[in-house]
Amino acid sequence: MISDPQQDPNAFWEEFYRTKRTTSTGRATAALHRIAAGLTPGLALDLGASHGDDVIWLAQQGWLARGCDISETAVARARARAAELGLEQQAQFERCDLSVALPEGEFDLITALYLQSPVALSRAAILSQAFGRLRPGGHLLVLSHAAPPPWSPEATPSTIFPTVGEELAAMDAPAAELEVIAAEIVTRLARGPDGREEMLEDNLVLVRRRTA
Ligand SMILES: C[S@@+](CC[C@H](N)C(=O)[O-])C[C@H]1O[C@@H](n2cnc3c(N)ncnc32)[C@H](O)[C@@H]1O
Repeated sequence: MISDPQQDPNAFWEEFYRTKRTTSTGRATAALHRIAAGLTPGLALDLGASHGDDVIWLAQQGWLARGCDISETAVARARARAAELGLEQQAQFERCDLSVALPEGEFDLITALYLQSPVALSRAAILSQAFGRLRPGGHLLVLSHAAPPPWSPEATPSTIFPTVGEELAAMDAPAAELEVIAAEIVTRLARGPDGREEMLEDNLVLVRRRTA
């Protein structure tokens, strides 16, 4: 993903969805399947929801799920997909700029799945606000690329790849309220553009806001 870090984020991601990622995989994130299986469905919010696959999957598991994204094109496609599946009440989407504000509300689950950008994104502020929006007992799941994929190591600035420790620190959560359930590197097999399969590393951080 070659880009100018000074580029306007809205313009960058609109262009990305209009010209590069034009279709959805239709598959939810595997790590979300594993984590959500252990949680009681409630109100969920996905930050940087893209085409909405994760939000729609959560809705299918009984969550009232909301997703937001800076790209109006991605949001429109996510809404259309939810409507096709008859899930427009359970899976709702809105356009947002998370660097400005998170959608209103408090949530039982907030997810930030590969919420990484080669252009401006106030990621630490977003994660700390997200922790503050958890209902008591609510969970925040952060999954992020720990390194660029081997097929494009030079194309992405290394500054957008946090460590597990940096993810936790970014949440800036009061120690008395923070329960860390998982903070680890996980691996997954991914296929590169040349068809070759490679093992990629992700940071996985799952925390819970303690009840008083
Ligand atoms: C790397 S993609 C990950 C998308 C999706 N969560 C996934 O797992 O495939 C990052 C997403 O964050 C969105 N995004 C980037 N900056 C944003 C911002 N300031 N506010 C809201 N969404 C943003 C992009 O439009 C994009 O959909």
